[in-house]
Amino acid sequence: MVAYADFHRRSLVDRDGFWREQAALIDWHRPFDSVCDDSRAPHTRWFAGGLTNLCHNAIDRHLAERADQPALIYVSTETGQEQTYTYAQMHDEVQRMAAILQRLGVGQGDRVLIYMPMVPQAAFAMLACARIGALHSVVFGGFAAGSLATRISDAQPAAIVSADAGSRGGKIVPYKPMLDEALALSGSAAQVLLVDRGLAPMSRMPGRDHDYAALRDELAGAEVACAWVDATHASYTLYTSGTTGKPKGVQRDTGGYAVALAASMRHIFDARAGQVFFCTSDIGWVVGHSYIVYAPLIAGMATLMYEGLPVNPDAGIWWRLAERYRVTHMFSAPTAIRVLKKHDAALLREYDLSSLQRLFLAGEPLDEPTAQWIGEGLGVPVVDNYWQTETGWPILTIAQGVDSSPGRLGSPGFAMYGYDAALFDPASGEELTEPGQKGVLALKGPLPPGCLQTLWQDDARFEATYWHSIPGRQVYSTFDYATRDADGYYFILGRADDVINVAGHRLGTREIEESIAGHPGVAEVAVVGVQDAIKGQAALAFVVPRRSLSELGDTGGSQLVREIGARVDGHLGALARPRAVHLVSALPKTRSGKMLRRVIQAICEGREPGDLTTLEDPAVIEHLRARLEA
Ligand code: PRX
Repeated sequence: MVAYADFHRRSLVDRDGFWREQAALIDWHRPFDSVCDDSRAPHTRWFAGGLTNLCHNAIDRHLAERADQPALIYVSTETGQEQTYTYAQMHDEVQRMAAILQRLGVGQGDRVLIYMPMVPQAAFAMLACARIGALHSVVFGGFAAGSLATRISDAQPAAIVSADAGSRGGKIVPYKPMLDEALALSGSAAQVLLVDRGLAPMSRMPGRDHDYAALRDELAGAEVACAWVDATHASYTLYTSGTTGKPKGVQRDTGGYAVALAASMRHIFDARAGQVFFCTSDIGWVVGHSYIVYAPLIAGMATLMYEGLPVNPDAGIWWRLAERYRVTHMFSAPTAIRVLKKHDAALLREYDLSSLQRLFLAGEPLDEPTAQWIGEGLGVPVVDNYWQTETGWPILTIAQGVDSSPGRLGSPGFAMYGYDAALFDPASGEELTEPGQKGVLALKGPLPPGCLQTLWQDDARFEATYWHSIPGRQVYSTFDYATRDADGYYFILGRADDVINVAGHRLGTREIEESIAGHPGVAEVAVVGVQDAIKGQAALAFVVPRRSLSELGDTGGSQLVREIGARVDGHLGALARPRAVHLVSALPKTRSGKMLRRVIQAICEGREPGDLTTLEDPAVIEHLRARLEA
């Protein structure tokens, strides 16, 4: 094994040679003209001139060798459905879906918004878009009408694929009413394709709403060729939260993404064709895009797609599935493991997990007790990996296929090949090179293949947000604080912006604030993320009502708090609902009127609030403490 440091160094000093080799892991219809064209930095173009297709690489190219091997194993403990699709069957399903989308008028470059629960059709729809060169934009099923409408307005989709309902812990969550409301709010004229799971009644608008099952029957045997698109052709957009209330449409290319995922399966996940990958995320998140749908299929593996809770029917369900399907690689989030930890550890030993090689965890900080508990319980290595929606694949971890270095508790590991990571002082822009210095983790351009190309129709925001936030530098900011020890292990310390991480879900506090501020009874609001034992972080809202606290009284106050909760549920979805809403008479602000969210957060977490010299009214601090105790 080459020392990892050499592997990493080569990826930077012989960038083109390194990535040319990785590019051989996928199929090209026509070879690329250049490996990395950074002449329009930071809009890097990877493998320009090369023609390829994501769906071809995920499905078609495996048909010769593994047509009858499982490609998608679907299990729902919500509906009891359990079904395996071979590569040949996937090929058939994806072509039918592609033919349906074409029938609805979707062409190359058009957007298709996918608002779906975890059903196989969601994966078919993503792959079908890739097949015909349309861009998918998956919106997490837990988001409500307001969030959905914002995304529809921004993406301007030609078609929307959705379903009657999802189900969570046996509770039916109707999707169609939410979709109808969002369509009305956004004024979209998109065609709508509906998968009817028979879970909830659906109204249909003639001429706009189409039935998936009927069209699927009609288009049996459809053959839709893969559209050969340039490697730089956008494959999808995926919205994520940032500092302002408006979500950012992270846009990814085709060729670079396929190469990055194929390389990650080999070097980072140490995975091979024929093995079984079980990623417990959701297709609505980046982890689901990369490691439920695309990467395992590109690698010729079977991917296990699961709808249900990790504790239903009992906390052994994941391990039972791992045994039944001989899962080799599992990928989950620390929150899920903390949930399992509340249950009997014996459940981890009840099943034959001899096929399982490693458990990968990402999305939020992995605390030591959780890592230790699950590692000992399963008897396999636990691998932390740190990355973002923007990058599409891990930035920091220990690359299992090429590096035998031990993990270090509390650290995801080293910078991955292709990433030129560095720490900067966010005030001065100085690069911090001494061990233990705290700075903002940034990446020097060009970013490796697979990372975002830009923000959907907003190059200016892409450049301003990510590439100009550190004074005097044109480097990509992750907006995470980190340190690095003398051996090169990184430690993530938390966000440097207003993004919070609730149960591995990335949320913008500004989005929640905007939703609450729209309530007529609210004068002012601040939302902060505070530590939470299970979810990592939870949102707390501090609201100054229009009427004074004494005018409102206890009843009026409780009523307002209830309405605020329901409002966030209806706008953004239950996952964004604050754990508590505190009514206060004032919020801490500087004399120039800037809200001091870090002060509120410190008080909530019982820490000293730090520098208060800029505070306009120091009495606010005692008032906040009193309200929190009340
Ligand atoms: O703050 C970091 C945290 O999650 C953010 C990215 O979230 P998202 O865009 O949803 O992408 C998740 C992809 C895995 C990061 O900026 N984060 C992610 N992974 C870790 C993490 N924090 C600590 N340790 C991690 N392993």
